[in-house]
Amino acid sequence: MTILVTGAAGFIGSQVAAALVARGEQVIGVDSINDYYDPRLKQARLDRLRSLAKGESFRFHHLDLADRAAMEALTARDGQSIDGIVHLAAQAGVRYSLVNPHAYIASNLIGHMHVLEMARHLPKLRQLVYASSSSVYGGNTKVPFSIDDRVDNPLSLYAATKRADEALSISYAHSHGLAQTGLRFFTVYGPWGRPDMAYFSFTKAIFDGEPLRIFGDGSMRRDFTYIDDIVAGVLASLDRPIDAGQHRLYNLGNNAAASVNDLIVAIEAATGRKAKRNEVPPPPGEVAATWADIEASRRDLGFQPKTALPQGIERFVAWYKDYYLA
Ligand SMILES: NC(=O)c1ccc[n+]([C@@H]2O[C@H](COP(=O)([O-])OP(=O)(O)OC[C@H]3O[C@@H](n4cnc5c(N)ncnc54)[C@H](O)[C@@H]3O)[C@@H](O)[C@H]2O)c1
Repeated sequence: MTILVTGAAGFIGSQVAAALVARGEQVIGVDSINDYYDPRLKQARLDRLRSLAKGESFRFHHLDLADRAAMEALTARDGQSIDGIVHLAAQAGVRYSLVNPHAYIASNLIGHMHVLEMARHLPKLRQLVYASSSSVYGGNTKVPFSIDDRVDNPLSLYAATKRADEALSISYAHSHGLAQTGLRFFTVYGPWGRPDMAYFSFTKAIFDGEPLRIFGDGSMRRDFTYIDDIVAGVLASLDRPIDAGQHRLYNLGNNAAASVNDLIVAIEAATGRKAKRNEVPPPPGEVAATWADIEASRRDLGFQPKTALPQGIERFVAWYKDYYLA
């Protein structure tokens, strides 16, 4: 099969693309390689993919999903061969949406719409799998968060764009018969991860001998989910047969919310160093706790997270040392 992966230079996209290459698929990757965080890390992920694919099963196009002409050219060039799309490119991050809201509208709304337009014109396409986020649950206080909960109270622009993506996708399922699966990811972490996320910046700070910038007293809870478990859930979604016009949503989370203090304990254990703490007030948009109800994902996708936080952090720290400190 030929699978288009958007955001292929990103954290989750590069790992999904690697897993697809490993099982023998042809992968077309696209990414704008923007500088939201160090583009050298994105280039290094692409280098790794090229070497895994031995120059054969991975092709890459450097393009911006918000560029309509570039998307139409991609459709004309590769559209006939594409069997599935995994759409992971987005402007991620809750806090940056206070700084650069335009990036969220361009990538997450216009970009998502261009992917939908492309998808509906592909003759062989089985389905489009796309990334949503646990942030759509906003200030939901009922835990664990269920797909059946109301999600009309986003606390950040990022969350609003992710929820809007779900609505756009539902409309394309109805209007154009486009089969889709939306996946609400919960705080994904692991090797080749994102430098803007707490587990990454805490690890960097601890190795640099700097204090960790902690929001509040560290009691905020997140359903930290290891990258390999997420990749398994994405592939299971892609493989599951789906009818024309069907749109499904699933949570992909670890189903075991841990506090930021638990995260710090895990990083201390993996690095063998003691953290210095700098507690600062949480910025607007940060939710107190996330926790995924994964009953439906278990039932329909066979989704079964296998990696506990201390074990996943150990693997992340091993990668970090190898990548930055070797
Ligand atoms: N990592 C998490 O914890 C998490 C949680 C919930 C949802 N998500 C979602 O999962 C997806 C992947 O996230 P990630 O953590 O890998 O983030 P990432 O930032 O590492 O990857 C996203 C990639 O998309 C690319 N991109 C952004 N805008 C683009 C555009 N307009 N055109 C082409 N490429 C563009 C970026 O350059 C980047 O390489 C995103 O949709 C994100 O919103 C991630």
